[in-house]
Amino acid sequence: MLVISMFGTKKTKRNAAKTKQLSANLVSTNMLYLMDYFGSNSGNNGAKDKLTYDYSNGEVLHVPTLDLSKWVYECEVKTIVQTGDSDTFFCDIKNVQIDRDIDITDGIDLTVFDPVVYSGQYHSIGKNLGKIGDYLKKD
Ligand SMILES: Cc1cc2nc3c(=O)[nH]c(=O)nc-3n(C[C@H](O)[C@H](O)[C@H](O)COP(=O)(O)O)c2cc1C
Repeated sequence: MLVISMFGTKKTKRNAAKTKQLSANLVSTNMLYLMDYFGSNSGNNGAKDKLTYDYSNGEVLHVPTLDLSKWVYECEVKTIVQTGDSDTFFCDIKNVQIDRDIDITDGIDLTVFDPVVYSGQYHSIGKNLGKIGDYLKKD
């Protein structure tokens, strides 16, 4: 499942509650300008068309997906839990799209996806530190 909370009266929240579908698109650092724009403007004030970007329809759901994103979830909303001003959407992941140029057969190396991490400020991630078991003492 994918769980996402949305507060206030934003358009995305209304759309997802109405259609019971949404997409979640991983933001890599080359997409910061797009994320900053989408996240600082509301569709309630008109279309977000000041920047050009390519988007597609989902492969299995009728959801918009960003062509630039290297990892996309297509989700069906199962339950919405209201807590104060926030609605938390519990979603079934119906499809995952991963950039076909990225090899994940040996696991997912997040450094290749170069995600933006948001803590109130934007960050990129550091080194790949290995996997489970790499730090166990060998006898
Ligand atoms: C990096 C970033 C992360 C955000 N995360 C959330 C979030 O988790 N939940 C939320 O309700 N709003 C979040 N926002 C705020 C919405 O993106 C913002 O209110 C936006 O204007 C909503 O647009 P809409 O009305 O078209 O849906 C975030 C904004 C940014 C820039």
